[in-house]
Amino acid sequence: MERLDKFLVECGVGSRSQIKDILKTGAVTVNGMPERDGARKIDPNANEIAYAGQVLQGKRRVVAMLHKPAGYVTATEDKQQRTVMELLPPELLRQDVKPVGRLDKETEGLLLFTNDGDLLHRLISPKKEVPKVYYARHEGQATEEDVQAFAQGLTLRDGTVCLSAKLEPLGAGESRITVCEGKYHQVRRMMASRDMTVLYLKREQEGSLTLGTLPAGQVRELTVQEVAELEAQCR
Ligand code: URA
Repeated sequence: MERLDKFLVECGVGSRSQIKDILKTGAVTVNGMPERDGARKIDPNANEIAYAGQVLQGKRRVVAMLHKPAGYVTATEDKQQRTVMELLPPELLRQDVKPVGRLDKETEGLLLFTNDGDLLHRLISPKKEVPKVYYARHEGQATEEDVQAFAQGLTLRDGTVCLSAKLEPLGAGESRITVCEGKYHQVRRMMASRDMTVLYLKREQEGSLTLGTLPAGQVRELTVQEVAELEAQCR
């Protein structure tokens, strides 16, 4: 059982304050009868809730991608710094989405959000091995020994052992790195363990998803097809 107003917010009917006004109009019905009391307890599986004659299906699953710009912390709230949540439109915030894993404040690129806790955990689990691909500009030049060390599983300067990862030198001071886990500052620390300081970092890909033409600071929901592909990669 849950409150009717909370259920209506989850369905994306409106914000909490908008729902108050909507309820007053009598446009919301429970089992066909207008209901004006937002505190009314309902069971979405047993009661038929409708708004303006449309039956509501309950909380829908949302998966979205953000092209994160530098300068935002990956957190749901922070007293001092701007958070990635500030880049989401109100309709996504109402769906109670959370960031999938984290990108550092200065890292740019693909950051997923979802309100499906199970999918979120599977996507960040190293056991599911969803590859994340990063482009890095760095001091120093990646060598064949660095490539081998990444492949074997690096030991970071503090002794942390990493899973096997892929390092592809792209040119002077540029590399592509593919990892299947998400330890704190992982790519920066992996590169530092090989004496390369990362100057710029962007996540280009997660599983089969790429940013495509999504501009920095913009967010879009994934298509049904994209969600199905993502699911298949972390089953
Ligand atoms: N690795 C890092 O060091 N930073 C990120 O933001 C993501 C991966």
